[in-house]
Parts: sequence; structure tokens; C-alpha cells
Amino acid sequence: MRKKIIAGNWKMNNDISATVNLISEIKKELSGKNVNADAIVCPPFINLETAKALLKDSPVKLGAQNVYFEESGAFTGEISPSMLKSVGCEFVILGHSERRTILGESDQIINKKIKASIKNLLKPIFCVGETLEEREKGVTFKIIERQIRNGLEGISESELENLIVAYEPVWAIGTGKNATPQQAQEVHQFIRGLIAKIYSQNFADQLVIQYGGSVKADNAKELLSQPDIDGALVGGACLKAESFVKIIEAA
Ligand code: PGA
Repeated sequence: MRKKIIAGNWKMNNDISATVNLISEIKKELSGKNVNADAIVCPPFINLETAKALLKDSPVKLGAQNVYFEESGAFTGEISPSMLKSVGCEFVILGHSERRTILGESDQIINKKIKASIKNLLKPIFCVGETLEEREKGVTFKIIERQIRNGLEGISESELENLIVAYEPVWAIGTGKNATPQQAQEVHQFIRGLIAKIYSQNFADQLVIQYGGSVKADNAKELLSQPDIDGALVGGACLKAESFVKIIEAA
């Protein structure tokens, strides 16, 4: 039985004082509640240390939104996997569609970042998803397959023990238009089947596949009740403690 994992992607939101407020409120909202799912918050880099200190007596885990694939050196503005580890980060979001489209990250760059993360024992949340144009052209599965095969190229099953995949249809991110539970389930099932083909059925069966794209307190339950949806990667709705905790409870 796969455990549900809910991750909050804060994106470029919240300064230090807003970070202190939001984490304190999440802790307050969670206290005394019996939740079965794992929860992760992914604040911007500069708030990670503050977030870690606030989370020290909490089951909520910490993730980053990006990482560079080199260990150290002349890479102005970049952050290495070991730096993330040193502030207590456990997870890292990689291949988010905003990084693919706005920051120009290719499958090959994402592949290097996944490899560097694994090497440093950071757990990747590897995002894949099609654009609206690709969905309308009927090439959704083809795009997802390319992103998965390229993103995981040269990585063995044993190295991917801590992998999480997030299916995030680009047309559903920040638009308020979520995929229907059936549309999401169809792609999740496809991803699990593909992973079974590339690796093994056993590995595919235990892989956590999150859905992301306009997940909210009022649609989380239905999405999360699909057989192959094992959690959510939440953007907008994770910026308010109440809605983020409702999604964790729905899981
Ligand atoms: P959203 O973002 O929940 O605001 O659609 C999800 C994401 O980008 O991870």
C-alpha cells in the first residue's frame, strides 16, 4: 500500500516573516489532527533554513524547488545538492513546467539534476506534463513518455528508491482548471505502466505518483481517491495553511 504524499510548492512567494507565519499556521492547523499522509513544504531557497528550524518538532518535511547539478564552483547564482542537504532539505522538485518553459530546462538538464540529487541522497519530485496544445493534438502519452525516458536515462531502479513522480498537466497549473479525476487517473496509470516497462512491475507498484494542477481543498478528495493517484503537488492552495491542511486531511 502506497503512502499518500502531499507537497506544497510555494514557488516565488513568501518572505521570511510570511514563512514564519505560514509554517506556524500549518503546525497549528495540523495539531491534534489524525493525518495519514506525509506532508512536505517547499519554500524558496532563502527561507529553507528558517523553515527547517520551525519544523523541528513537526512531522512536516522540507523540500526545495530546484537544485543545480554540479557540486561546487563557478556557477553564479546556483545552489548545489549538498548545500540543500546541509540546511536539512530532504526533497527537491525537479522538472517543474515553469522551469522547463520559463527557465528553459531541457530533459537532459533535468536528468543531470535527478542524478546529482540522488547522489546526494536528496529525494526528487520529478514533474512531467503536457501542454494544452499537446493534449489537443492527442500526443499526451508521447510527451510524458519522452519526459520520463529522458529524465530517468542512465539511472538504475535501485538508485530510484526515493523517487516521486508528479504528473502536472501544464494547462491545469495555476489556471483553476484541474484535470478531471478520470483524465488524471488515465495518465497516472500510463506512467505506472511505463515505469514497469522500463524497470519492473514491483518498482512501479510502489512508486508514488502525485497529481498537480489546481488541486484545492474541494477537489482533493476525488482526485486522491483514484487508484493510481498517490498524493498531490499543490501550488496556489498551499499558500494558506487552512487549505493546505485540508488537502493533507483529504489524503
Ligand atoms: P497550482 O500549481 O496548484 O497553483 O495549479 C501546482 C504546481 O505548479 O505545482
